[in-house]
Amino acid sequence: MKLVVHVNAVERELDVDPLRRLLDVVRVDLGLAGTKEGCGEGECGACTVLVDGVAVNSCLVPACQVEGRHVTTIEAAGFEPERRAFLEEGAAQCGICSPGMIVMTRAFAELCRAQGRVPTLEDARVALAGNLCRCTGYGAILRAALAAAKERA
Ligand code: FES
Ligand code: FES
Repeated sequence: MKLVVHVNAVERELDVDPLRRLLDVVRVDLGLAGTKEGCGEGECGACTVLVDGVAVNSCLVPACQVEGRHVTTIEAAGFEPERRAFLEEGAAQCGICSPGMIVMTRAFAELCRAQGRVPTLEDARVALAGNLCRCTGYGAILRAALAAAKERA
């Protein structure tokens, strides 16, 4: 199918199998390799991207579902609060989970800002519950997510 999709604010036209995973579209077809593949079955969050501002596991989304939509990957502009917070908190080791964590953190932070509420550490824990990390430990990650959400708020 012909697929027209806005990726990181750039309109892209692709010829893809309608069931091709969005993860493969961004990583392979568009060369945006910052989005990672972990489990490949919706369990780890490493492949998280935003579709119209909503965080999704791109390994579970077929290309046909993003026709005409706006996809945001870790390469997009505007992740400075999250990147800075993860750096300052030392919230990464191997880095495989980090793009997904940062994208999910942005979705969490934007939601808090839209709702006009001050986020808590428990809010951050709930928001990032679907994103798994095997090596850093969640303390630093949750502190980073909370710091970024507070900065955006
Ligand atoms: S690779 Fe998509 S959720 Fe794990
Ligand atoms: S930093 Fe290695 S899996 Fe999270």
